[in-house]
Amino acid sequence: ETPAPAPAPAAEAPAAPAPAPAKALVVGTDAAYAPFESQDATGQIVGFDIDVVTAVAKSQGVEVKFVNTPWEGIFNTLAQGDRDLLVSAITITDERKQTMDFSDAYFDAHQLIAVGEKSKVTKFDDLKKLKVGVQTGTTGDEVVTKMLGKDSTNIKRFESTPLALKELEAGGVDAVVADNGVIVNYVANNAGSKFKTVNDPSFAPEQYGLAVRKGNAELLAKLNKGLAAIKADGTYDKIYAQYFGA
Ligand code: ARG
Repeated sequence: ETPAPAPAPAAEAPAAPAPAPAKALVVGTDAAYAPFESQDATGQIVGFDIDVVTAVAKSQGVEVKFVNTPWEGIFNTLAQGDRDLLVSAITITDERKQTMDFSDAYFDAHQLIAVGEKSKVTKFDDLKKLKVGVQTGTTGDEVVTKMLGKDSTNIKRFESTPLALKELEAGGVDAVVADNGVIVNYVANNAGSKFKTVNDPSFAPEQYGLAVRKGNAELLAKLNKGLAAIKADGTYDKIYAQYFGA
């Protein structure tokens, strides 16, 4: 039997474009800020902020990818389009609002002073003549700069808050001013640090927000919807309890 002739090749139909895979939002975070964002032993970025954004994204059906991004320059990565969104225990401030947009607040914070356990410091004013460590460009840097003066050589600026706290441990600075949550966490996890914390009523209440590029109303609306959803359904409270207790 003669084999049937091979069927003529079908006319080349243009291949239907594969549906574009949903592009993950690139989330910048300075992962040296436990318990909000840090790297675990395997290098994975973990923390309260990470869980909140992951839950927000899930509720809105979007993918997210966290990218460790140094605090210094983190806002530029957003402006330049290298990051779609930032979560980094970022305090919502009027100044920052000029160059980026913030979601609704998702966390309350304030500054706190860390000093050695034998220190005589009892209030913020006592830091005036002392060497004070801060993380460059944070709200802690802002309040200390305001108090000691822009040109004060007593302000020691560090690229991360843990580095500032290490320097306090080493005696290179007399105090560190930073967000309450990160100091409390450091003291709890570094028994050898021998710090005590000092609060001061003059420290203004701060609130953390998620930052997006100025004018990115679509993403902002999604984030706010997601935040409202995880607050309403108990997810936020569960995450909060996991990191800060009920
Ligand atoms: N809340 C402070 C600020 O916005 C400090 C945030 C630092 N965050 C970080 N991941 N290093 O200035």
